[in-house]
Amino acid sequence: MAGKKPRMVGVVMGGICGERDVSLSTGACVVSNLLSAGHAPTPVCIHADGSWEIGPRLADLPVDRGGEDWFHGDSTTARDATGLLVSQGVDCIFNALHGPGGEDGTIQGFLRVAGMPFTGPDVTPAALTMDKALTKAVLDQAGVRTPRGFEIPILTDARSEESWGALALEMSAKLPFPWIVKPNCLGSSVGIQLLQSIEEFLSAAAANGSHWCPSPGLAGSGFIVEELVEGRELTCGVLELRQGDLKALPPVEIRPKSSEFFDYQAKYTPGATEEICPAQLDEDTTRAVQELAILVHKTFHCDPLSRTDIFLTEEGELVALEINTLPGMTETSLIPQSALAAGISLPELFDQLVSHAIQREAMRKAVGTL
Ligand SMILES: Nc1ncnc2c1ncn2[C@@H]1O[C@H](COP(=O)(O)OP(=O)(O)O)[C@@H](O)[C@H]1O
Ligand SMILES: [Mg+2]
Repeated sequence: MAGKKPRMVGVVMGGICGERDVSLSTGACVVSNLLSAGHAPTPVCIHADGSWEIGPRLADLPVDRGGEDWFHGDSTTARDATGLLVSQGVDCIFNALHGPGGEDGTIQGFLRVAGMPFTGPDVTPAALTMDKALTKAVLDQAGVRTPRGFEIPILTDARSEESWGALALEMSAKLPFPWIVKPNCLGSSVGIQLLQSIEEFLSAAAANGSHWCPSPGLAGSGFIVEELVEGRELTCGVLELRQGDLKALPPVEIRPKSSEFFDYQAKYTPGATEEICPAQLDEDTTRAVQELAILVHKTFHCDPLSRTDIFLTEEGELVALEINTLPGMTETSLIPQSALAAGISLPELFDQLVSHAIQREAMRKAVGTL
Protein backbone atom coordinates (compact mmCIF):
# COMPACT_ATOMS: atom_id res chain seq x y z
CA MET A 1 0.00 0.00 0.00
CA ALA A 2 2.34 2.70 -1.27
CA GLY A 3 2.42 5.88 0.79
CA LYS A 4 0.40 4.47 3.70
CA LYS A 5 1.66 4.69 7.22
CA PRO A 6 2.82 1.23 8.38
CA ARG A 7 0.92 0.22 11.50
CA MET A 8 1.78 -2.10 14.33
CA VAL A 9 -1.17 -4.47 14.53
CA GLY A 10 -1.88 -7.09 17.19
CA VAL A 11 -3.72 -9.92 15.43
CA VAL A 12 -5.85 -11.65 18.06
CA MET A 13 -6.82 -15.24 17.20
CA GLY A 14 -7.76 -18.55 18.80
CA GLY A 15 -10.34 -18.08 21.51
CA ILE A 16 -12.25 -20.23 23.91
CA CYS A 17 -15.04 -21.62 21.75
CA GLY A 18 -15.63 -24.32 19.13
CA GLU A 19 -14.62 -21.91 16.35
CA ARG A 20 -11.04 -21.73 17.66
CA ASP A 21 -9.41 -23.62 14.78
CA VAL A 22 -11.19 -21.52 12.18
CA SER A 23 -9.96 -18.40 13.97
CA LEU A 24 -6.35 -19.65 13.99
CA SER A 25 -6.60 -20.08 10.20
CA THR A 26 -8.11 -16.61 9.79
CA GLY A 27 -5.36 -15.20 12.04
CA ALA A 28 -2.56 -16.78 10.00
CA CYS A 29 -4.05 -15.37 6.78
CA VAL A 30 -4.47 -11.90 8.33
CA VAL A 31 -0.85 -11.85 9.52
CA SER A 32 0.58 -12.77 6.13
CA ASN A 33 -1.62 -10.30 4.24
CA LEU A 34 -0.93 -7.45 6.67
CA LEU A 35 2.77 -8.09 6.03
CA SER A 36 2.07 -7.85 2.28
CA ALA A 37 0.25 -4.57 2.93
CA GLY A 38 3.38 -3.17 4.59
CA HIS A 39 2.17 -3.34 8.19
CA ALA A 40 3.89 -4.92 11.20
CA PRO A 41 1.63 -7.62 12.64
CA THR A 42 2.17 -9.32 15.98
CA PRO A 43 0.17 -12.53 16.45
CA VAL A 44 -1.67 -12.78 19.74
CA CYS A 45 -3.37 -15.97 20.88
CA ILE A 46 -6.26 -16.37 23.26
CA HIS A 47 -5.73 -19.87 24.61
CA ALA A 48 -8.58 -22.27 25.33
CA ASP A 49 -8.33 -21.41 29.06
CA GLY A 50 -8.82 -17.69 28.30
CA SER A 51 -5.19 -16.67 28.90
CA TRP A 52 -3.44 -14.50 26.30
CA GLU A 53 -0.04 -15.03 24.69
CA ILE A 54 1.81 -12.50 22.59
CA GLY A 55 3.51 -14.45 19.79
CA PRO A 56 6.93 -13.96 18.21
CA ARG A 57 8.01 -10.56 16.90
CA LEU A 58 8.02 -9.97 13.17
CA ALA A 59 11.63 -11.03 12.52
CA ASP A 60 11.10 -14.42 14.19
CA LEU A 61 7.74 -15.20 12.65
CA PRO A 62 7.57 -18.40 10.61
CA VAL A 63 4.92 -17.03 8.20
CA ASP A 64 4.71 -20.29 6.29
CA ARG A 65 3.20 -21.86 9.40
CA GLY A 66 0.41 -20.48 11.49
CA GLY A 67 -2.10 -21.37 14.10
CA GLU A 68 -0.89 -23.10 17.24
CA ASP A 69 2.70 -23.29 15.90
CA TRP A 70 3.28 -19.64 16.76
CA PHE A 71 2.43 -19.93 20.42
CA HIS A 72 4.63 -21.83 22.84
CA GLY A 73 5.62 -19.07 25.24
CA ASP A 74 4.29 -17.62 28.47
CA SER A 75 0.71 -16.59 28.73
CA THR A 76 -0.82 -13.86 30.82
CA THR A 77 -4.13 -12.13 31.47
CA ALA A 78 -6.06 -10.21 28.82
CA ARG A 79 -5.45 -6.97 30.74
CA ASP A 80 -1.70 -7.46 31.04
CA ALA A 81 -1.34 -8.57 27.44
CA THR A 82 -3.22 -5.50 26.22
CA GLY A 83 -1.04 -3.26 28.41
CA LEU A 84 2.06 -4.92 26.97
CA LEU A 85 0.84 -4.44 23.42
CA VAL A 86 0.20 -0.74 24.12
CA SER A 87 3.70 -0.37 25.60
CA GLN A 88 5.16 -2.05 22.50
CA GLY A 89 3.49 0.67 20.38
CA VAL A 90 0.70 -1.45 18.87
CA ASP A 91 -1.74 0.91 17.07
CA CYS A 92 -4.66 -1.43 16.58
CA ILE A 93 -6.03 -4.90 17.30
CA PHE A 94 -7.09 -6.94 14.31
CA ASN A 95 -9.89 -9.13 15.60
CA ALA A 96 -9.43 -12.52 13.91
CA LEU A 97 -11.67 -14.31 16.41
CA HIS A 98 -14.95 -16.02 15.58
CA GLY A 99 -17.86 -17.02 17.76
CA PRO A 100 -18.55 -16.48 21.47
CA GLY A 101 -16.03 -14.25 23.23
CA GLY A 102 -14.79 -12.79 19.93
CA GLU A 103 -17.83 -12.04 17.80
CA ASP A 104 -20.42 -11.36 20.48
CA GLY A 105 -19.48 -7.94 21.88
CA THR A 106 -17.32 -9.27 24.70
CA ILE A 107 -13.87 -8.42 23.38
CA GLN A 108 -15.28 -5.37 21.62
CA GLY A 109 -16.41 -3.95 24.99
CA PHE A 110 -13.10 -4.83 26.61
CA LEU A 111 -11.04 -3.12 23.88
CA ARG A 112 -13.35 -0.11 23.80
CA VAL A 113 -12.92 0.43 27.53
CA ALA A 114 -9.15 -0.01 27.06
CA GLY A 115 -9.22 2.70 24.34
CA MET A 116 -7.59 0.34 21.83
CA PRO A 117 -8.81 0.52 18.20
CA PHE A 118 -10.08 -2.82 16.92
CA THR A 119 -11.24 -4.08 13.53
CA GLY A 120 -14.69 -5.41 12.82
CA PRO A 121 -18.04 -4.58 14.35
CA ASP A 122 -18.67 -2.47 17.40
CA VAL A 123 -20.24 -3.83 20.60
CA THR A 124 -23.94 -3.68 19.73
CA PRO A 125 -23.92 -5.23 16.25
CA ALA A 126 -21.55 -7.94 17.45
CA ALA A 127 -23.71 -8.81 20.46
CA LEU A 128 -27.02 -8.72 18.60
CA THR A 129 -26.02 -10.68 15.52
CA MET A 130 -24.34 -13.43 17.52
CA ASP A 131 -27.74 -14.21 18.99
CA LYS A 132 -29.70 -15.85 16.18
CA ALA A 133 -33.09 -15.57 17.92
CA LEU A 134 -32.63 -11.84 18.58
CA THR A 135 -31.42 -11.39 15.01
CA LYS A 136 -34.61 -13.02 13.72
CA ALA A 137 -36.79 -10.84 15.95
CA VAL A 138 -35.11 -7.66 14.71
CA LEU A 139 -35.29 -8.82 11.07
CA ASP A 140 -38.99 -9.58 11.46
CA GLN A 141 -39.49 -5.99 12.59
CA ALA A 142 -37.58 -4.80 9.53
CA GLY A 143 -39.88 -6.83 7.28
CA VAL A 144 -37.20 -9.36 6.32
CA ARG A 145 -38.33 -12.97 6.00
CA THR A 146 -36.45 -15.47 8.17
CA PRO A 147 -37.11 -19.23 8.56
CA ARG A 148 -40.21 -20.04 10.62
CA GLY A 149 -39.38 -21.56 13.96
CA PHE A 150 -38.80 -20.90 17.62
CA GLU A 151 -36.18 -20.42 20.24
CA ILE A 152 -35.95 -22.92 23.07
CA PRO A 153 -34.55 -20.70 25.78
CA ILE A 154 -32.04 -21.29 28.52
CA LEU A 155 -31.85 -24.78 29.97
CA THR A 156 -30.66 -24.62 33.53
CA ASP A 157 -30.17 -28.35 33.86
CA ALA A 158 -30.11 -31.47 31.72
CA ARG A 159 -33.54 -32.35 30.32
CA SER A 160 -35.10 -35.69 31.08
CA GLU A 161 -36.24 -37.99 28.29
CA GLU A 162 -39.87 -37.11 29.13
CA SER A 163 -39.27 -33.40 28.89
CA TRP A 164 -37.54 -33.73 25.48
CA GLY A 165 -40.55 -35.83 24.40
CA ALA A 166 -43.08 -33.25 25.56
CA LEU A 167 -41.10 -30.47 23.88
CA ALA A 168 -40.93 -32.40 20.60
CA LEU A 169 -44.69 -33.02 20.60
CA GLU A 170 -45.47 -29.40 21.35
CA MET A 171 -43.18 -28.17 18.58
CA SER A 172 -44.30 -30.70 15.97
CA ALA A 173 -47.88 -29.49 16.41
CA LYS A 174 -46.73 -26.07 15.19
CA LEU A 175 -43.90 -26.86 12.77
CA PRO A 176 -43.89 -29.87 10.43
CA PHE A 177 -40.67 -31.83 9.90
CA PRO A 178 -37.96 -31.63 8.63
CA TRP A 179 -36.37 -29.38 11.26
CA ILE A 180 -33.07 -27.64 11.47
CA VAL A 181 -31.86 -27.52 15.07
CA LYS A 182 -29.03 -25.15 15.92
CA PRO A 183 -27.39 -23.50 18.92
CA ASN A 184 -28.58 -19.92 19.33
CA CYS A 185 -25.15 -18.36 19.86
CA LEU A 186 -22.57 -20.31 17.88
CA GLY A 187 -21.29 -20.20 14.32
CA SER A 188 -19.30 -22.26 11.78
CA SER A 189 -22.26 -24.72 11.69
CA VAL A 190 -21.08 -26.16 15.02
CA GLY A 191 -23.86 -28.30 16.52
CA ILE A 192 -26.37 -27.85 13.65
CA GLN A 193 -28.50 -30.86 12.73
CA LEU A 194 -31.14 -31.68 10.14
CA LEU A 195 -33.83 -33.90 11.66
CA GLN A 196 -36.66 -35.68 9.88
CA SER A 197 -38.91 -36.98 12.66
CA ILE A 198 -39.69 -36.92 16.38
CA GLU A 199 -37.67 -40.14 16.75
CA GLU A 200 -34.64 -38.53 15.14
CA PHE A 201 -35.10 -35.45 17.30
CA LEU A 202 -35.22 -37.52 20.48
CA SER A 203 -32.18 -39.61 19.69
CA ALA A 204 -30.24 -36.47 18.63
CA ALA A 205 -31.31 -34.75 21.85
CA ALA A 206 -30.08 -37.69 23.92
CA ALA A 207 -26.74 -37.73 22.11
CA ASN A 208 -26.18 -34.05 21.32
CA GLY A 209 -28.57 -31.95 23.39
CA SER A 210 -25.66 -30.38 25.23
CA HIS A 211 -24.21 -29.07 21.90
CA TRP A 212 -27.47 -27.30 21.16
CA CYS A 213 -27.18 -25.47 24.45
CA PRO A 214 -23.45 -25.13 25.14
CA SER A 215 -23.68 -22.83 28.18
CA PRO A 216 -26.86 -23.73 30.09
CA GLY A 217 -27.95 -21.01 32.45
CA LEU A 218 -26.37 -18.16 30.50
CA ALA A 219 -28.56 -15.67 28.66
CA GLY A 220 -29.16 -16.48 24.99
CA SER A 221 -27.61 -19.91 25.29
CA GLY A 222 -30.58 -21.96 24.20
CA PHE A 223 -31.20 -23.37 20.76
CA ILE A 224 -33.39 -22.76 17.76
CA VAL A 225 -35.70 -25.09 15.89
CA GLU A 226 -36.47 -23.96 12.35
CA GLU A 227 -38.21 -25.08 9.19
CA LEU A 228 -35.79 -26.41 6.58
CA VAL A 229 -35.67 -23.74 3.90
CA GLU A 230 -35.16 -25.25 0.47
CA GLY A 231 -33.70 -23.53 -2.54
CA ARG A 232 -30.37 -22.06 -3.56
CA GLU A 233 -28.06 -21.06 -0.74
CA LEU A 234 -26.34 -17.70 -1.20
CA THR A 235 -24.25 -15.42 0.90
CA CYS A 236 -23.62 -11.74 0.30
CA GLY A 237 -21.02 -9.44 1.82
CA VAL A 238 -21.37 -5.71 2.43
CA LEU A 239 -18.49 -3.31 3.02
CA GLU A 240 -18.90 0.01 4.82
CA LEU A 241 -15.37 1.25 5.25
CA ARG A 242 -16.56 4.85 5.57
CA GLN A 243 -19.78 5.34 7.47
CA GLY A 244 -22.77 5.42 5.14
CA ASP A 245 -20.72 4.39 2.10
CA LEU A 246 -22.15 0.90 1.55
CA LYS A 247 -20.93 -1.47 -1.12
CA ALA A 248 -22.48 -4.90 -1.62
CA LEU A 249 -20.04 -7.51 -2.89
CA PRO A 250 -21.04 -10.07 -5.54
CA PRO A 251 -23.22 -12.82 -3.99
CA VAL A 252 -21.67 -16.29 -3.76
CA GLU A 253 -23.65 -19.51 -4.25
CA ILE A 254 -22.88 -22.43 -1.95
CA ARG A 255 -23.44 -26.01 -3.11
CA PRO A 256 -22.23 -28.68 -0.67
CA LYS A 257 -21.21 -31.73 -2.72
CA SER A 258 -22.20 -34.49 -0.32
CA SER A 259 -23.54 -32.90 2.89
CA GLU A 260 -27.25 -32.24 3.19
CA PHE A 261 -26.52 -28.63 4.16
CA PHE A 262 -23.50 -26.36 4.66
CA ASP A 263 -22.30 -28.19 7.78
CA TYR A 264 -18.89 -27.98 9.48
CA GLN A 265 -17.39 -30.66 7.26
CA ALA A 266 -18.71 -29.02 4.08
CA LYS A 267 -17.41 -25.63 5.27
CA TYR A 268 -13.89 -26.61 6.20
CA THR A 269 -12.92 -29.67 4.14
CA PRO A 270 -11.15 -28.48 0.98
CA GLY A 271 -13.22 -29.38 -2.08
CA ALA A 272 -16.30 -30.48 -0.10
CA THR A 273 -18.40 -27.57 -1.37
CA GLU A 274 -18.71 -25.87 -4.70
CA GLU A 275 -18.63 -22.12 -4.14
CA ILE A 276 -19.68 -20.18 -7.20
CA CYS A 277 -18.43 -16.63 -7.14
CA PRO A 278 -20.09 -14.57 -8.39
CA ALA A 279 -23.31 -16.59 -8.16
CA GLN A 280 -24.97 -17.18 -11.54
CA LEU A 281 -28.12 -15.12 -10.98
CA ASP A 282 -29.96 -12.78 -13.31
CA GLU A 283 -29.40 -9.06 -12.83
CA ASP A 284 -32.65 -8.46 -10.94
CA THR A 285 -32.03 -11.30 -8.51
CA THR A 286 -28.43 -10.21 -7.93
CA ARG A 287 -29.68 -6.72 -7.16
CA ALA A 288 -32.41 -8.04 -4.84
CA VAL A 289 -29.90 -10.19 -2.91
CA GLN A 290 -27.50 -7.27 -2.57
CA GLU A 291 -30.30 -4.92 -1.49
CA LEU A 292 -31.39 -7.41 1.15
CA ALA A 293 -27.81 -7.78 2.42
CA ILE A 294 -27.52 -3.98 2.61
CA LEU A 295 -30.83 -3.68 4.48
CA VAL A 296 -29.73 -6.32 6.98
CA HIS A 297 -26.31 -4.66 7.38
CA LYS A 298 -27.90 -1.23 7.97
CA THR A 299 -30.48 -2.64 10.38
CA PHE A 300 -27.72 -3.86 12.71
CA HIS A 301 -25.17 -1.04 12.07
CA CYS A 302 -22.63 -3.59 10.90
CA ASP A 303 -19.85 -1.31 9.69
CA PRO A 304 -17.21 -2.04 8.49
CA LEU A 305 -18.27 -5.45 7.16
CA SER A 306 -21.02 -8.04 7.22
CA ARG A 307 -21.98 -11.20 5.39
CA THR A 308 -25.62 -12.28 5.30
CA ASP A 309 -26.57 -15.89 4.57
CA ILE A 310 -29.63 -16.00 2.33
CA PHE A 311 -31.77 -18.65 0.65
CA LEU A 312 -33.43 -18.08 -2.72
CA THR A 313 -36.51 -20.32 -2.73
CA GLU A 314 -38.02 -21.95 -5.79
CA GLU A 315 -40.80 -19.35 -5.64
CA GLY A 316 -38.12 -16.64 -5.96
CA GLU A 317 -38.41 -15.44 -2.37
CA LEU A 318 -35.38 -14.41 -0.35
CA VAL A 319 -35.07 -15.74 3.22
CA ALA A 320 -32.33 -14.39 5.50
CA LEU A 321 -30.73 -17.05 7.70
CA GLU A 322 -28.25 -15.08 9.78
CA ILE A 323 -25.57 -12.38 9.76
CA ASN A 324 -21.84 -12.75 10.24
CA THR A 325 -19.93 -9.71 11.40
CA LEU A 326 -16.55 -11.45 11.67
CA PRO A 327 -16.74 -13.95 8.83
CA GLY A 328 -13.92 -16.36 7.99
CA MET A 329 -10.95 -14.63 6.38
CA THR A 330 -8.72 -17.32 4.96
CA GLU A 331 -7.66 -17.06 1.32
CA THR A 332 -10.51 -19.40 0.34
CA SER A 333 -13.20 -17.96 2.63
CA LEU A 334 -16.35 -16.47 1.13
CA ILE A 335 -15.68 -12.76 1.78
CA PRO A 336 -12.11 -12.88 0.45
CA GLN A 337 -13.41 -14.63 -2.70
CA SER A 338 -16.15 -12.10 -3.33
CA ALA A 339 -13.92 -9.14 -2.46
CA LEU A 340 -11.46 -10.39 -5.05
CA ALA A 341 -14.30 -10.70 -7.60
CA ALA A 342 -15.04 -7.02 -6.84
CA GLY A 343 -11.37 -6.14 -7.46
CA ILE A 344 -10.34 -5.86 -3.80
CA SER A 345 -7.31 -7.91 -2.76
CA LEU A 346 -6.85 -9.23 0.77
CA PRO A 347 -3.93 -6.91 1.64
CA GLU A 348 -6.10 -3.99 0.49
CA LEU A 349 -9.13 -5.19 2.45
CA PHE A 350 -7.20 -5.79 5.67
CA ASP A 351 -5.39 -2.47 5.29
CA GLN A 352 -8.75 -0.71 4.99
CA LEU A 353 -10.15 -2.54 8.01
CA VAL A 354 -7.16 -1.33 10.06
CA SER A 355 -7.70 2.26 8.86
CA HIS A 356 -11.40 2.02 9.69
CA ALA A 357 -10.59 0.83 13.22
CA ILE A 358 -8.11 3.64 13.85
CA GLN A 359 -10.46 6.30 12.48
CA ARG A 360 -13.40 5.00 14.53
CA GLU A 361 -11.41 5.19 17.75
CA ALA A 362 -10.09 8.68 16.83
CA MET A 363 -13.68 9.82 16.26
CA ARG A 364 -14.72 8.39 19.61
CA LYS A 365 -11.92 10.25 21.35
CA ALA A 366 -12.78 13.45 19.44
CA VAL A 367 -16.37 13.39 20.65
CA GLY A 368 -15.26 12.39 24.12
CA THR A 369 -17.09 9.08 24.48
CA LEU A 370 -15.96 5.60 25.50
N1 LIG B 1 -33.53 -23.03 8.44
C1 LIG B 1 -32.61 -23.54 7.62
N2 LIG B 1 -32.96 -24.11 6.45
C2 LIG B 1 -32.04 -24.67 5.62
N3 LIG B 1 -30.73 -24.72 5.90
C3 LIG B 1 -30.32 -24.15 7.05
C4 LIG B 1 -31.22 -23.53 7.97
N4 LIG B 1 -30.52 -23.07 9.02
C5 LIG B 1 -29.23 -23.40 8.77
N5 LIG B 1 -29.09 -24.05 7.61
C6 LIG B 1 -27.86 -24.60 7.02
O1 LIG B 1 -26.86 -24.61 8.03
C7 LIG B 1 -25.79 -23.71 7.71
C8 LIG B 1 -25.33 -22.96 8.94
O2 LIG B 1 -26.42 -22.27 9.51
P1 LIG B 1 -26.36 -20.76 9.93
O3 LIG B 1 -27.69 -20.36 10.43
O4 LIG B 1 -25.81 -19.95 8.81
O5 LIG B 1 -25.36 -20.79 11.17
P2 LIG B 1 -23.79 -20.58 11.33
O6 LIG B 1 -23.67 -19.38 12.21
O7 LIG B 1 -23.29 -21.81 11.99
O8 LIG B 1 -23.21 -20.36 9.96
C9 LIG B 1 -26.36 -22.80 6.64
O9 LIG B 1 -25.32 -22.27 5.85
C10 LIG B 1 -27.33 -23.71 5.90
O10 LIG B 1 -26.67 -24.56 4.98
MG1 LIG C 1 -23.91 -19.09 8.47
